[in-house]
Amino acid sequence: MSRVYAAFRSIGAYAPKNILSNEDLEKMVDTSNEWILKRTGIKERRIASKDESTSDMAVEAAKKAIDRANLSKEDIDLVVCATISPDFFNMPSTACVIANKLGINNVQAFDISAACSGFVYALSVAKAFIESGMKKNILVIGAEKLSTIVDYQDRTTCILFGDGAGAAIISATLDKDEAIIDVRASADGSYQDFLITPAPGAVNPPSQEILDNRLCYMKMKGNETFKIAVKTLTSDVKEILEKNNIKSEDITHFVPHQANYRIIKAVGDALKLKEEQIVLTIAKYGNTSAASIPMAINEIYEEGKLKRGDLMLLDTFGGGLTWGSALIPFAPSKND
Ligand code: UT7
Repeated sequence: MSRVYAAFRSIGAYAPKNILSNEDLEKMVDTSNEWILKRTGIKERRIASKDESTSDMAVEAAKKAIDRANLSKEDIDLVVCATISPDFFNMPSTACVIANKLGINNVQAFDISAACSGFVYALSVAKAFIESGMKKNILVIGAEKLSTIVDYQDRTTCILFGDGAGAAIISATLDKDEAIIDVRASADGSYQDFLITPAPGAVNPPSQEILDNRLCYMKMKGNETFKIAVKTLTSDVKEILEKNNIKSEDITHFVPHQANYRIIKAVGDALKLKEEQIVLTIAKYGNTSAASIPMAINEIYEEGKLKRGDLMLLDTFGGGLTWGSALIPFAPSKND
């Protein structure tokens, strides 16, 4: 029997219309446009409306990805959604809600919780499902309504995050040239308190005290996380390239998680990447956690810069702590 590979067929994304600019944040907390721009590279981020949930944004992204893969919803046999801002804590999974809204029934559907690394984690799962022969067409989503877990009284976090969704189709192929080359995903739970939403959960079930102490919002040890992110990502991307015998100059698009421009620059410099190789969306979307990488891939796709055979290097880092990287050739359907 011939070997089956996983191909990255298509991308789609959705960004809510409402913009929260640095100037808007100046009116909410003690911060400045200059500080935010200099320390993060962020100018503005998108915020979902009240009646727009994580699954609604995911559905918009997914419709585009399914359409661009020349598939119909009946072809999808697995829905995986990476999110830390699910529609519901903790059931039904957002993937189930998305499948239902798309009209995909009797499909396996589940969420992945790996914070900002969620999309890369989901890709590792999709690759394994396809290569094992268990599934043929997988809808992989990263979707976040982070504005529901961001504390808009905390200037150290509220300036960073935004809402949005991205989706990709990963399909079975017999063509080795189309194959996702490698996906690495790692974690170190000893740093669990570096990025944490303390409640609600089994440790801190709902109570008035939780609300009074604002424990249902994200907390971050920013500077400590920053230092580990730079160190870990630099060695992780070097290792994935070395292991697969690929040079920095072979990368068409470096698509990093959009957490902080300074982290992206440090990793890009370590790989000696040219400016035109690096995909940046941080200025207009901020950090959208699991959605940030697929939203960035969609950006180059819609700008006409992502072509068949282009090699993408992804890297990501987030709560857990979790991190990962991936080497992926873009492999749209051949009849495109
Ligand atoms: O996506 C998941 C992974 N996340 C990350 O990788 C994020 C990693 N961390 C970061 O991106 C950066 O650490 C931040 C952007 C969060 C913070 O930048 P920093 O350069 O590490 O700043 P800092 O935390 O060391 O704070 C420097 C100063 C402090 O004041 P003092 O103590 O020097 O007087 C802060 O209180 O900046 C102050 N500060 C602010 N000032 C204006 C912190 N936040 C703000 C703010 N506006 N929003």
